[in-house]
Amino acid sequence: MEVLAAHLPAYTKVVVRGNRGSLPVPLTLGPACVARVIAVAPDVFHVAPGDVVVDTALLDAGDGDEILVGWVGLGGSGAGSERTARMRTVWRDGVFAEKALCAKETVVKLAGAENYPDLARLSFLPWLCLAAAGLHAAGPLAGRDVAVLGATGQLGGAAVLTALAEGAATVTAVGRNAAALDRLAALGPRVRTHRLTGDRTRDAAGIGPVDVALDALGATLTADATMAAYDSLRGRGTLVLIGGVRQELAIPYGDLMHRRLTLRGSWMADDATVTTVWNLIRAGLLDLSVLEPLTVGLDDPAAALDLAERTTGLDFVALVP
Ligand SMILES: NC(=O)c1ccc[n+]([C@@H]2O[C@H](COP(=O)([O-])OP(=O)(O)OC[C@H]3O[C@@H](n4cnc5c(N)ncnc54)[C@H](OP(=O)(O)O)[C@@H]3O)[C@@H](O)[C@H]2O)c1
Repeated sequence: MEVLAAHLPAYTKVVVRGNRGSLPVPLTLGPACVARVIAVAPDVFHVAPGDVVVDTALLDAGDGDEILVGWVGLGGSGAGSERTARMRTVWRDGVFAEKALCAKETVVKLAGAENYPDLARLSFLPWLCLAAAGLHAAGPLAGRDVAVLGATGQLGGAAVLTALAEGAATVTAVGRNAAALDRLAALGPRVRTHRLTGDRTRDAAGIGPVDVALDALGATLTADATMAAYDSLRGRGTLVLIGGVRQELAIPYGDLMHRRLTLRGSWMADDATVTTVWNLIRAGLLDLSVLEPLTVGLDDPAAALDLAERTTGLDFVALVP
C-alpha cells in the first residue's frame, strides 16, 4: 500500500521508550493509516488496487490472541501467548513509511474516499473509530447525556466529535487543560465542560448526571477521576473504559446492582465501526474541519515525536510520508 497519511499518537514517545509494553524490535512503528492499495495477493477480494483504505493494525487469531501490527498492546488478557509471539514475528512492521505491506484482515475499504480532499485530516479516522467503538458499547447515543473523561486528549476529543455526530443530547467534556476545554466548548451549545479538580465528590457533581460516561484518560496517578465518572451516572447508566489508566477500580457491589449500572470495556474497533464512522464523515455529520492536523514527513522522527507529545485534543500530528 502507498501510505497517504497516518496519525502519530500523542504518546508515541512513551511507546518508543518502552513504557507501554514490549515491541518486537527492530520494527517500523505505526498502528494505523489511510492508504491507497497498490497491489493485492491473489486471495484478497475485499479491496483492489486503487482503493483508499484504512489500515487498523488489528490482527485477530481468535480466542483472545490479538495483536496490533507495528504497535504495543495485545488483546485478550494483554499478556500475550506463544501464538501472539508468532503472529508478531510474521507481521511486525507498521505503517510509518512510504509503503507498507499489510495483512488483509487489517484493511478496511473507504468507499468513495478516492476524492477526499484532505487526507491529513482523514488520518484521524482510526482514532475516531476507537472512540466510536467505546461509545457504541453503551448503546445508542441519540438523546442521551454523555460525558467524556480525558476529552482534552486525542481519543477523548475524538469521542466528543463522535457523540455529537451521533445525536447525544449533551456532551460533557472533562479534563484538566482549560484551553483545550474552551476549544471543545466552542464546538456548539450541546457541549458542556468540567475541569477536573482532583476531588472525587466535586468532580462527580460537575460531570453528571449522565447516561453514558466514557473514560479515555491517559495514565493517571489515581482512579479518582474514573470513579467520579462512575459516581456521575444516572440509574441504568453505563461507564465505558477505553483509556490508559493503570489503576484498580473499587466498584461498590450494592450500588452497581441497585442502580442497575453497566461497566464495559472496549478495545480497538471492528470493521463495521470503521464503515459507520466513515459514513458519518461522508454524510457531513461528523465534521473534520474542526481538527487541526500538523503535518510532518519522515525526515526527522525525533522532532515529529516531540511535536506529537505537545499536541492535545483536536490538534494532532499527521505523518504524510
Ligand atoms: N481502548 C482502546 O482501543 C485504546 C486505543 C488507543 C489508545 N488507548 C489508550 O487511550 C489513552 C488516551 O489516548 P490519547 O491518544 O487520547 O492520549 P493523549 O492525547 O495523550 O490524552 C491523554 C488524556 O489523559 C489526560 N491525563 C493524562 N494524565 C492525567 C492525569 N494524571 N490526570 C488527569 N488527566 C490526565 C490528559 O489530560 P490533559 O490534557 O489535561 O493532560 C488527556 O486528556 C492512551 O493512554 C492509550 O493507552 C486505548
